[in-house]
Amino acid sequence: MSTENNPAPESFDWQHWVNRWDRMQERYLVGRAARFEIMTRLVRETQASVTRVVNLGCGPGSLMIQMLTSFPHAQVCGIDFDPTILVLARARLNQYGDRAQLILADLRDGTWPQSIPAPVDAVVSATALHWLTTDQLEKAYRQVAQILRPGGILLNADHVGSPSPEIQQAWVRHREELRAREDTSSGDDWDGFWRAYAEALNVDVQEAHQRIVGGWEGGIEDGLPLAWHLDRLRESGFWAVDCFWRCDCDAIYGGIRCKPSPLREEKVT
Ligand SMILES: C[S@@+](CC[C@H](N)C(=O)[O-])C[C@H]1O[C@@H](n2cnc3c(N)ncnc32)[C@H](O)[C@@H]1O
Repeated sequence: MSTENNPAPESFDWQHWVNRWDRMQERYLVGRAARFEIMTRLVRETQASVTRVVNLGCGPGSLMIQMLTSFPHAQVCGIDFDPTILVLARARLNQYGDRAQLILADLRDGTWPQSIPAPVDAVVSATALHWLTTDQLEKAYRQVAQILRPGGILLNADHVGSPSPEIQQAWVRHREELRAREDTSSGDDWDGFWRAYAEALNVDVQEAHQRIVGGWEGGIEDGLPLAWHLDRLRESGFWAVDCFWRCDCDAIYGGIRCKPSPLREEKVT
């Protein structure tokens, strides 16, 4: 495995921070583990064999672990642009040796597919792609279609929105109600996690994020309408495009890579 810039001290208790990350994410994503299960089942049920999986915006590798354990012959490649979070992924995935690969890359710059040993059977992502602008996301969908083998699957678990402000507000209210039911008494919120993690790593994470994320242009936090994603996926070369699970403004959607057609095979740069 390779990532650049490992700022972790020798005695760094990565397991403690992985646990805190997962707990923090569960606070925001009700049913997070169940969503990972649904994605795994869909990969299993659509793919005759799973030898290569890519996880976009892998963070500390929670979904990668799920894929590595569910598909014991698969190589799983995680991509993330944040070296401070890849520290956790690297420590956590070390036990999987060459089956786990980590790539420090920015999904916005368009060159990331060059680092992927294509073709792959499945591309999965969880709450990462909403950080991209609509243009960047459209391009990313086309690039995903190019690295997937025909018949391979894309699954994205992410925020989706409604064009109706009333419906959107109702969904957000309901999401807050669901989140409030979670026991968060001892866990971190997003900012709290990063403050504490930065201190433990002894790095200025805020400065690092400013440098990595730069001018944060996209990130429609409440998401684009699901129909927008489904249309873009069809245009990008996917069929069986669908929403596979949904709770208000969170969804799992995706599709199957179509067989190649000369019209769809133009190079995306
Ligand atoms: C909310 S976290 C989710 C992480 C992981 N998928 C999980 O469920 O635990 C979003 C992740 O997407 C990554 N990310 C966001 N924008 C990215 C980009 N342009 N390129 C690469 N990674 C990105 C962030 O660094 C972060 O690790």
